[in-house]
Amino acid sequence: MSVTYNENAKIFRLRAKDTDYILKIAPGGYLAHVYFGKKVPDEDLTYLLRLDENPFTPETNNRDKACYMDTLPFEYPCFGLGDYREAAFRIMDENGMSTCDLRYLSHRIYRGKPALDGLPATFATEDSGAETLEVVLEDKPAALEVTLIYTAFDKLDVITRSAIVKNVGKRPCTLTRVYSACVEFDTHEFDMITLNGSWARERAVERCRLHHGKQSVDSMRGESSHQNNPFTALCSHTADEDTGEVYGFNFVYSGNFISQAEVTQHKKTRYLMGINDLDFSWLLEEGESFTAPEVVMVYSDSGLGKMSRTFHDLYRNNLIRGEYKDKRRPILINNWEATYFDFNTEKLIDIAKEAAKSGIEMLVMDDGWFGHRDSDNSSLGDWFVYEKKLDGGLKYLVDEVNKLGLKFGIWFEPEMVSPDSQLFKEHPDWAIQVPGRELTLCREQYVLDYSRKEVRDHIYSMMKKILDSANIEYIKWDMNRQLTEVGSAVLPSNRQRELWHRYVLGVYELMDRLTTEYPHILLENCSGGGARFDPGMLYYSPQIWCSDDTDAIERLKIQYGTSMCYPCSAMGAHVSDCPNHTVGRSTPFSTRGNVAMVGTFGYELDITKIPQQDRDAIPGQIEQFNKYNALVRTGDHYRIGNMFEDNTWDAWMFVSKDKSDALFEFVQVIGRPNERSRRIKLKGLDPDKYYYEESDPDFKLSGAALMQCGINIGGIWGDYQSKIMHFMAAE
Ligand code: DGJ
Repeated sequence: MSVTYNENAKIFRLRAKDTDYILKIAPGGYLAHVYFGKKVPDEDLTYLLRLDENPFTPETNNRDKACYMDTLPFEYPCFGLGDYREAAFRIMDENGMSTCDLRYLSHRIYRGKPALDGLPATFATEDSGAETLEVVLEDKPAALEVTLIYTAFDKLDVITRSAIVKNVGKRPCTLTRVYSACVEFDTHEFDMITLNGSWARERAVERCRLHHGKQSVDSMRGESSHQNNPFTALCSHTADEDTGEVYGFNFVYSGNFISQAEVTQHKKTRYLMGINDLDFSWLLEEGESFTAPEVVMVYSDSGLGKMSRTFHDLYRNNLIRGEYKDKRRPILINNWEATYFDFNTEKLIDIAKEAAKSGIEMLVMDDGWFGHRDSDNSSLGDWFVYEKKLDGGLKYLVDEVNKLGLKFGIWFEPEMVSPDSQLFKEHPDWAIQVPGRELTLCREQYVLDYSRKEVRDHIYSMMKKILDSANIEYIKWDMNRQLTEVGSAVLPSNRQRELWHRYVLGVYELMDRLTTEYPHILLENCSGGGARFDPGMLYYSPQIWCSDDTDAIERLKIQYGTSMCYPCSAMGAHVSDCPNHTVGRSTPFSTRGNVAMVGTFGYELDITKIPQQDRDAIPGQIEQFNKYNALVRTGDHYRIGNMFEDNTWDAWMFVSKDKSDALFEFVQVIGRPNERSRRIKLKGLDPDKYYYEESDPDFKLSGAALMQCGINIGGIWGDYQSKIMHFMAAE
């Protein structure tokens, strides 16, 4: 049993593998947080709440209830009753007042895990097993019921949380904040790790010590964003890759979010995660409900590495879906960095011909094939073929590419509209806008109002025509600007602040429709590179374009940061040409291949123009990718180097679950004078097994020696050089 209820102590215990999460119905009917961490055998840990130390508990002495409210660790704190820490829940009742009082009403425990209406969420499988606790809290005066949903996975140190709010009365009520999770810690001795950045340098790891007050990362851009990822880890000050306690939080959502840690007056920490409440409100009429998206919480007693591997296992098995979930992805060549907008049928066929010779499996036609798009200043929303460019039509092109033995993929940016488009001319009100205010342009485009079904239906029907017209086996779904002037032509004034969330729900609905009706199509998400690399998107697409920065050295940092919670097998990673188009750096072709091989793998260059020696190297790179891809997709990932601490080298490993097979990759970013080799300790092996490196089967070392003493990486001359080693357990 993963979830138990002790009636006497009024204690719920969720046990996820080796992790316990404990809550209690405290005096007054308030739901209190007792413990989150490594599992303990005890049934009743009520003493942790220190109720006996608080002279003013409502049941015994109610002369100072506010003191009780301001110190009790709450599972789902609400606003207005004397808890002056940040709340998880706030309302505006029909009188315009914000106070709310949530008390225990009922609960139920069941095997499995529920889906969330209209939202992406992790799921249980027969293999993973999971058990769910639902606790219903009520606010009698406002006639609201809040169901807190917790699921504990049997075989992973994962607890998920979400909440559903229902109006069970007759009067309307407006929700002004509905966060998804609150976790209280009895200490402030934490470091907070977040993934921050910008376009082309997404998910850089930042770590800082918690201090009094509130520390947060968030997005108000309408997407999870380049700037801050919806991920946070709280860890002990000494925690590193392999040791120390870590609590990881990741939001299964692709819009505005907040992730906040607050150190309170008594040096405790309240952690909150949910939809950002800035410019948010949601009107609940009689009988209506609102569902807050899921937060995934991972506990690790052995550092950041174990936390990441837990996230990776969960997302690979219990979030990503579809035909490609457990499959090697086709090796693609994308024409974006090869041609940008300057291509035609002939050019694409030339690329495909050369790609076919090298063993590449799919051609992806990127931006510029529709309307009259020759630059980024027109045609978004006009999803019909630009006949002048695609001479002979789309079907002809796809058939020719197929004849060469390649699959065909296509780019869309379905959420956008150009002012210079038929769509905008016919439906100017379909763009998100505020009447009487100038629409802000970004990359010369506006955002469509995806809260409107007719808008989604229209876009979908255009996409469908294209998809049905030729043998298309892959879609790159791009999204290249953030939201401004957020207003809808159809929502009433008291629902305008719902648009941010309704927009995200609309995107999810269309992605769901697309992947349901075209299950054979591989969907890759993208947002100006990696601005929507989040678990919400992984639910619909098994891979996401990691960043527009394709430089192998910059990618070391980007892929390292992304791997904090996202599996490498989901990272869109390509070999591009040099000097790199983003940073102007030149790196060896082999290093570009070795770095991209960690992700989905492909090429983003004009294969007809690259140096012959690079072209000649492609079949070998493909062979190497094929050899190791199963290990990358299913094995355990170990970070060894850390470019944020020492940017002269990087290294990582993938180790099979049975520890018999391991891939080690090393990148020497900067060569060092007067040093013949570098000592690197391997990770994740079985200390008792003996291993040999594939190139030297006669020399065997124990896993213990490889991990404790390390190996000498030598013979590498120059900057940006890399090396791959393959360790196998000896019989
Ligand atoms: C941004 C993406 O990240 C690129 O890969 C490319 O598809 C462009 N958009 C096309 O406009």
